Amino acid sequence: MARINEHYRKLRAGYLFPEIGRRVRAFEAAHPEAHVIRLGIGDVTLPLAPAIVSAFRSAVDELGVEATFKGYGPEQGYDFLLDAIREHDFAALGVALDRDEIFVSDGSKCDTGNVLEIFGAGCSVAVTDPVYPVYVDSTVMSGRTGEAGEDGRFAGIHYVSANEANGFVPDPPAERADLAFLCTPNNPTGAVATHEKLARWVAWARASDAILLFDAAYEAYISDPALPRSIFEIEGARECAIEFRSFSKRAGFTGVRCAYTVVPKDLLGTTSSGERVPVNALWARRQSTKFNGVSYPVQRAAAAAYSPEGLKQTAEQLSYYMGNARLLREGLGGAGFTLFGGVHAPYIWMRTPRGLGSWEFFDKLLAEAHVVGTPGAGFGPAGEGYLRLSAFNAREKVEEAVARIQRAFTA
Ligand code: MLT
Repeated sequence: MARINEHYRKLRAGYLFPEIGRRVRAFEAAHPEAHVIRLGIGDVTLPLAPAIVSAFRSAVDELGVEATFKGYGPEQGYDFLLDAIREHDFAALGVALDRDEIFVSDGSKCDTGNVLEIFGAGCSVAVTDPVYPVYVDSTVMSGRTGEAGEDGRFAGIHYVSANEANGFVPDPPAERADLAFLCTPNNPTGAVATHEKLARWVAWARASDAILLFDAAYEAYISDPALPRSIFEIEGARECAIEFRSFSKRAGFTGVRCAYTVVPKDLLGTTSSGERVPVNALWARRQSTKFNGVSYPVQRAAAAAYSPEGLKQTAEQLSYYMGNARLLREGLGGAGFTLFGGVHAPYIWMRTPRGLGSWEFFDKLLAEAHVVGTPGAGFGPAGEGYLRLSAFNAREKVEEAVARIQRAFTA
């Protein structure tokens, strides 16, 4: 008898974004005349930068010629990409990494979910709430939780609330946990942690022998050079953190798929007999067994994001999206909405008006302004009373969305 993994049955039936997609499609079917503007899922809309397209094409051409054809590549990534990452993303911050501390992959969503496999089934997990749902859902799938309670929180997960009082960047939990997911700049709130705040998390992790699972998928959106882009800028983090980075939001790769994970060789885990062993070797073992690497053209395309033209062109794209974020903040803030984020991240975290529940506001926004957001409650119980708007869309659609929301909700 093929017994299923019963832990899946603890989860809500659908993942958040497909559920939103389902509601939007139902609305569009019932109102074919409505021009719905999507500021829900954080998916890029600008085409790939020309420097990236050109490198992508040439790499495909190489595969069409016997002399330059390539079969399986190195599972961890080609040296040309590893070196570009080391130089531009870390050496520039004063962080030295070896090539074999970087693992190129097809996405941070997969890596943040898969990483739980290399830790013991008994490891406890901490998350901030609201939270990118992948961390919680993967923890549940891995069997490390009980059922969800009335409040939607799963027994066995340590939740730390991110709220207005702590600027949506909470301190570490009072109790100990073995693994803690931290995302900054944050999805969904758009808040960003300072050096001082990250130093507190690193100190907590070191004191409790925990490992921080640091998701920096949005670091490229940080506009203040004083803010940390990598956990490894914090002293002592090499011994207590794994970092996830992605080309999705930084170079428009949501459809192309390329990311990487940094597992420092100084990071140790503990066996049941108390022996200390490198986590890097476990992740290398996991990836080389279950993953055959990202395709050569995709890695060439990712490396082109670090070329002088690639850097310039992608910087223009990020500033376009952040121009949208500014329009949303100014237009909706001026209309009386209370807003957070949108300065160092492409997400605006909006308090729902008139005390509406977040799904209630989602439905109203769709029905009255034909604008799609993401209900805060979809990111966890502490997201109730908020809605996330994404800055990824065409400028004229964002302007139109602002005007429609102003008309629908200010009178
Ligand atoms: C989001 O909207 O939160 C993101 O698009 C999700 C993701 O990056 O997987």
